[in-house]
Amino acid sequence: MNTRDSEHLIAELSNKENYILTPNLKEADLILINTCSVREKPVSKLFSELGVFAKQKKPDAKIGVCGCTASHLGKEIIQKAPIVDFVIGARNVSKITQVLHKKHAVAIDTDFDESTYNFGEYRTNRFKAMVNISIGCDKGCTFCIVPVTRGEEISIPSELIYNEIQKSVDSGAKEVMLLGQNVNNYGRRFSADSKIRDFTNLLRHISTIKGLERIRFTSPHPLHMDDEFLKEFASNPKICKQIHVPLQSGSDSVLKSMKRGYTKEWFLNRCSMIRSLAPQATISTDIIVGFPSESDRDFEETMDVLEKVRFEQLFSFKYSPRPHTQAATLDSKVPQEVAQLRLKRLQDRHTQILDEVMQAQLGSTHFVYFDELKPHGKIAGRSDDGKLVFAKGGEELLGVIAPVKITKASRSLLEGEAQI
Ligand code: 5AD
Ligand code: SF4
Repeated sequence: MNTRDSEHLIAELSNKENYILTPNLKEADLILINTCSVREKPVSKLFSELGVFAKQKKPDAKIGVCGCTASHLGKEIIQKAPIVDFVIGARNVSKITQVLHKKHAVAIDTDFDESTYNFGEYRTNRFKAMVNISIGCDKGCTFCIVPVTRGEEISIPSELIYNEIQKSVDSGAKEVMLLGQNVNNYGRRFSADSKIRDFTNLLRHISTIKGLERIRFTSPHPLHMDDEFLKEFASNPKICKQIHVPLQSGSDSVLKSMKRGYTKEWFLNRCSMIRSLAPQATISTDIIVGFPSESDRDFEETMDVLEKVRFEQLFSFKYSPRPHTQAATLDSKVPQEVAQLRLKRLQDRHTQILDEVMQAQLGSTHFVYFDELKPHGKIAGRSDDGKLVFAKGGEELLGVIAPVKITKASRSLLEGEAQI
């Protein structure tokens, strides 16, 4: 979501203000920092980075802070770091060319509705498009700051989504990544007319676009994974067989205290349905350890889900209390050392699973969409199930989907020969 917001900022600045990108900090007239605030670490990083930029920038270069930290800290950022010229929240991206000219402007209104805003065209990678399908989040998971920083959930009308994908396909993209905090809750609320009003039908509708060959989406919520959606995921050949199913915890009591709205049993049931309908699909997940009151037994429930599902990819975090969230007010904090040990156990076990998964790819064939040249005469792309694959090759393979026979496997990537 942040990456796409950055593309929107770049498009607005280049279309309306003639800015161009520079890789050289010392040469920049404007430095924009797009921030995350989902955990404490990126917030402290913002202030240390600001110090570095302050020393290295041209004397009259402006600095703007955008994104989620901007949304929740607002003018505090300028008070703490007066070098910052303006602050623009995650839900105010379209205002960039206005705030740019107002010294110490702060635009962080989370009621602001950008769901029908016509952003200019800018894509970092012309082979793959990112397209927002909703903004904000209504879920209110008790650990999460996103509803505070991105405001209430509003879906983007289906025709706007369709047209944007069509435009990206016309300019060379074969793959789209649909973006939302909660994609399969699509249709919850619109601020304008929309022909399609649910996620499964949106997927079907988008699949009719000629020249679009791959559809990905992130992130779905396990609660909204109904049978019809999972059947569409499994049977639609354009939908890549990679799905993120964020667990957060395997313990029913922790899930309840997180307000996730599902149980361990429901979660396992959804994953086994995915495994049986689409055995070739990879499942990734997010897990938080050390949530307030998490006991050793609760944590064992999480380990049990890991054993049962054998996630192909894991994003795991120590719980980080966030301002304006319900969980931050809970007592019975888990000691840091305990959370650290749990995180290590989880990650170590997952690494073993991952090694087995990756070694099992040797000799298999993956269809890879090549989109990036690499040094030493290599080219990289993603398999349908989301694995990074390298092969020998150059320009002639850019933008091509080709079968690759896997000859080498490591924890993070596969290598093989493109069969063309
Ligand atoms: N502490 C730790 N991890 C968090 N996440 C969200 N909020 C927190 C928090 N307060 C994680 C969740 C989410 C992912 C994007 O970040 O696992 O799915
Ligand atoms: Fe945060 Fe929950 Fe919304 Fe995801 S679904 S953005 S974790 S509140």
